[in-house]
Amino acid sequence: MRARLVAGNWKMHGSRDSSRALLDAIVAADVACAVCVPFPYLAQASERLRGTRAAWGAQTLSEHASGAYTGEVSAAMLREFGCRYVLVGHSERRQLFGESDAQVAAKFSAACEAGITPILCVGETLQEREAGRTQEVVARQLEAVLRRGAIGEAVVAYEPVWAIGTGRTATPAQAQEVHAFLREHLTADTCILYGGSVKPDNAAAIFAGADVDGGLIGGASLIAQDFIAICRAAEHKG
Ligand code: PGA
Repeated sequence: MRARLVAGNWKMHGSRDSSRALLDAIVAADVACAVCVPFPYLAQASERLRGTRAAWGAQTLSEHASGAYTGEVSAAMLREFGCRYVLVGHSERRQLFGESDAQVAAKFSAACEAGITPILCVGETLQEREAGRTQEVVARQLEAVLRRGAIGEAVVAYEPVWAIGTGRTATPAQAQEVHAFLREHLTADTCILYGGSVKPDNAAAIFAGADVDGGLIGGASLIAQDFIAICRAAEHKG
């Protein structure tokens, strides 16, 4: 059976106190999950989550091993804080910080080399979907990474850009269609997550897709009871 995963993407939200409360609630609920937290909260996450069913990780990393790259964080540094996962190529990084397919692929390699599992995010904009280019776009984003090497144990997240933070989620059929397409380029074992406005009331329907192995959760991952409900929906997938 393929691995299931629900990963929270906290983005640039929270404080030390709210982070502590969220981690405490996740530990108390004893759910299998991962949380990708802002860099300053990695130490807190590693202390609180070690030995629990929750893993932790970061939201990006540098493609470089070390050097004069002011403000950047390397894979080896993330490794020191016990990160199991790191998001790579989130659409906000691509759009707001200009990350190219090649740069995303280099970050992906840097994570793998350090023994951290990258969660590679791919997804089309609304304009691209309406132009019928969804498959072309996600295939291009995926191929950039595959050209450098095998996908290995990595996780892939399909996140339609138009569904992120908009409250407008892909229908279960739309998600499954793209997941099935992605799987043709991946191995039968690759864990493929759906992300984009997943909430407790739509999680079970989305996770029911044959090629949907869990979710990447933004907004709802900041509300403990919502995130825990989504984790349980993935655990209960029949
Ligand atoms: P959302 O974000 O759940 O708030 O739509 C998902 C993501 O950006 O990973």
